[in-house]
Amino acid sequence: MEQHTIADEIRELAQERDAVIIAHNYQRGEVQDVADFVGDSLGLARQAARTPASVIVFAGVHFMAETAKILSPFKTVLMPEPRAGCPMADMMTATDLAAWRKANPGVPVVTYVNSTAAVKALTDVCVTSANAVDVVRSLGAPKVLFGPDRNLASWVARSLPDVEIIPWDGFCPTHEQVSAEQLAQEQARHPNAEVIAHPECRPEVVDMADAVLSTSQMLCHVATSSAEEFIVVTEEGLLHGLAKAAPGKRFLNLEPRMFCPNMKVTTIEKVRDCLRDMSGEIVVTEDVRLAALASVEKMIAIG
Ligand code: 13P
Ligand code: SF4
Repeated sequence: MEQHTIADEIRELAQERDAVIIAHNYQRGEVQDVADFVGDSLGLARQAARTPASVIVFAGVHFMAETAKILSPFKTVLMPEPRAGCPMADMMTATDLAAWRKANPGVPVVTYVNSTAAVKALTDVCVTSANAVDVVRSLGAPKVLFGPDRNLASWVARSLPDVEIIPWDGFCPTHEQVSAEQLAQEQARHPNAEVIAHPECRPEVVDMADAVLSTSQMLCHVATSSAEEFIVVTEEGLLHGLAKAAPGKRFLNLEPRMFCPNMKVTTIEKVRDCLRDMSGEIVVTEDVRLAALASVEKMIAIG
């Protein structure tokens, strides 16, 4: 007799609850495999906005589930592990941003989606790694305030030399830890490998990359690139999807592997428990949600 797996249990519960399971590209492989949709921040936000399901189970980090709730207030948004945060999102508070805005009157505020709902509420337009350059270009502004990620800000500044980008001093600990020396050593070991890097990496690392891409853009890129081997400078969870996107190609992460502890606290058991108990509900107060909505809607419309 075939074994009834935890994945089977999850699929049955999802049907009973009219739930959709969406997972970020950095989630554990078994969590990605049980999800209805796997993607980058932009793809998942779009998916959350358009799903007809009444419950969204969000396997990712807190700002992603909050973004889903901002876009879908009448849906129940659950996180299997609501304590999964993003340290970068906590590097710019609403109080910080209010003071920054006040010190720079009239300058548009562009905020990375890796931010709290309260910060989004004080933002003109949000961006993700997939569309930051396009969104800033679309503003046509000579100068913007860009937070919280100084590295993504630097990537946008180099892509749009006519725009003055004033960065906040935040960063992703997982991507910031990679040094140019470390990448150079890996390149020396694999001289034929193409380097694909996330724009959350330091500028000197980004400069060494053949392509600078969001996580889902990397999945598309490897399938069409003529390269057979890639050095993947982003969180190691993406390698699960890369192996499926381009079977037979070789994907190398750095040593030590790039690891986001917050992305990995969600386990398949927690996905099951959350659906069974309808636990881990994400709440955004209506005043904050309404204030944040316009900036998030502009983000999902571009790119
Ligand atoms: P992506 O939107 O490219 O998936 O990135 C999200 C993230 O948190 C990267 O660290
Ligand atoms: Fe945040 Fe970095 Fe983890 Fe992405 S990888 S969720 S930016 S800490």
